[in-house]
Parts: sequence; structure tokens; C-alpha cells
Amino acid sequence: MRLFVAIALPASAAGELDSAVAPLRLAWPELRWTGQDAWHLTLAFLGEVDEKVTRKLTVRLGRAAARHPRLPLSLGGAGAFPGAGRARVLWTGVQGDVAGLSALADSVAAAASRAGAPPASRGRRYEPHLTLARCRAPADVRTLVATLGGFAGTGWTATEIYLIHSRPQGRPRYETLGSWPLLARETRPPGPGRPGQSPVKRGQPGQARRPAH
Ligand code: 2AM
Repeated sequence: MRLFVAIALPASAAGELDSAVAPLRLAWPELRWTGQDAWHLTLAFLGEVDEKVTRKLTVRLGRAAARHPRLPLSLGGAGAFPGAGRARVLWTGVQGDVAGLSALADSVAAAASRAGAPPASRGRRYEPHLTLARCRAPADVRTLVATLGGFAGTGWTATEIYLIHSRPQGRPRYETLGSWPLLARETRPPGPGRPGQSPVKRGQPGQARRPAH
């Protein structure tokens, strides 16, 4: 099974991004645009993993998730791999607790390696992104990146991670095999001398959608 581990987007974040991308889809029909149902933030792409390893993987992923706090995140900006002048992939970026997201990605990669499913991307720097389009041949998308660069989505709090089965020819393409909660951040009741202060609210904990079934 071809597997990856990801964070899901709430419907509100996906809807906003979809509105920003809609005119660009029309203006750049030569790109292969991804649809909302495929949008996620990959933490680690594991590639082919056999079923025995998948069972170990689920235990390790649960433990890794439980060691990391929930993450305030938002989508914003734009870029391209390997570069906007000769792009293969157009993406929007991730803002908010990117350091926390990278630390989580490291833990997920370590968990997968210990389970016997080392990430295919091991050794490469983790670059949080959401793929919006793929180019059939390297393309100059500098104007597209500049246009989308001003996009800034509303924040949400990521509360769990997902193990997803990718079926390139399948319908639906992505099937969720499991999900594990991130650690709820501690909120302290108002202390003496700080009357009326309410527990810290970080972002709005929008309900993330399960990424496709
Ligand atoms: P992408 O969005 O940059 O294409 C499911 O395919 C997810 O895993 C996608 O988000 C994809 O990243 C990522 N992915 C697919 N193949 C990969 C690879 N060989 N190395 C790293 N990530 C990969």
C-alpha cells in the first residue's frame, strides 16, 4: 500500500483557498490543478508499505502524535518546486507554528522508520506546502506565483494526524486508515491577581475534515 501521513484542512480553509485559486485555474488551463478533495499537508510520504509494517506503524504514529501539541496553522503565500521559472509543482505555503509542524514531521518520520517504513523523502529538508497544480513540463509560473503570493488564509488549529492510503488510479484517490490526536495544549484557569483572564485561545479550533474516504 502506498501510504503517507498528513494533516487535514478544515472546510473553511479549503473553501477560501478554492475561491482564490478558481480564477487561476481558468487562466492557466495547461496546468493539472488539484481539487479540494485532494488537499492536505503532507508530514511524511512513506511510499509502498506492507500490511504487517502498517500495524506497527499505527502504534508508533499514535505515540508520536501524543508527544506534540496541537498546531495553530494557516495557508498563505505561494511558490514552486524546483523554482518558479521552471516549475513542476505549484504550491501554497503554511504559516503559523511552522517550527512545531516541522518537529511533528520529524517525529512522524522517526516513528515510520522505527516501524520499518522509512519515508521516501528521508534526508531531504521538510518543506511544508500544499500542492495546487502540477506541470506536464517545466513551466514558467512566476506571474502565477506573484498573483497567488498575496493569499493569506484564516487560521485553524490542527488537532490530529492522519495515515492515508493513496490509490493513484482509485476513486476516491485517498482513503484514511487511521487518525491520532495531537496533545491538547494546557490551558490554565485564571490565577490570583489576574482577574477575569480567560484561558489562552490559540486560533480558532476549526473542525478539520477527515481527508477523504
Ligand atoms: P506533493 O503534494 O508535493 O506532490 C501524496 O502523494 C502526498 O505525498 C502528496 O502530498 C505528495 O507531495 C507526497 N509525495 C508523493 N510522492 C512523494 C515523494 N516521492 N517524496 C515526497 N513526497 C511525496
